[in-house]
Amino acid sequence: MILIGFMGSGKSTIAKRLHNNDFSYIDMDHWIESNAQQSIPDIFNAHGETHFRELEYHALKETHDSYDCIATGGGIVTYTPSFDFLKSTKKPIVWLDAPIDKLLHRISGDTNRPLAQNRQDIIARYESRHEQYKSLADIRIDTRKPVDDCVKEILEFLK
Ligand code: S3P
Repeated sequence: MILIGFMGSGKSTIAKRLHNNDFSYIDMDHWIESNAQQSIPDIFNAHGETHFRELEYHALKETHDSYDCIATGGGIVTYTPSFDFLKSTKKPIVWLDAPIDKLLHRISGDTNRPLAQNRQDIIARYESRHEQYKSLADIRIDTRKPVDDCVKEILEFLK
């Protein structure tokens, strides 16, 4: 399965829990960082967002066939080649979502997220991505619930 959703929606946390349920998993942000030998803020600073989106697309193609669960970065849906790739995958796409106030609370002040530094900007990004997540999703999970319940819902869906 592929986990999509905005920053702070719980993709990494839920991927780790799924891993405890015997799913192999990869966190794409970590894959990119170890491949580039650079942190995400450094990649953004040195090369800009478009370059990061290209790395993300490359990571998506490289990891797609090798893991049961792929936790994507929140902005992957904004880059057309990645969006089209996700549109055509046969893997289930699980959209993790929560109301924007909850997401803002979870990500505010996180210096490891270059695109989460300004409240108005975060809200605008959330709004512009919402339809993209929706159009890719096979199921939407509201992550206001406890993590265990989210995982249960995903496992039920996959049965
Ligand atoms: C981004 C989300 C981040 C990371 C990068 C850009 C985005 O991943 O890929 O900072 O554009 O939403 P998370 O969704 O895991 O925070």
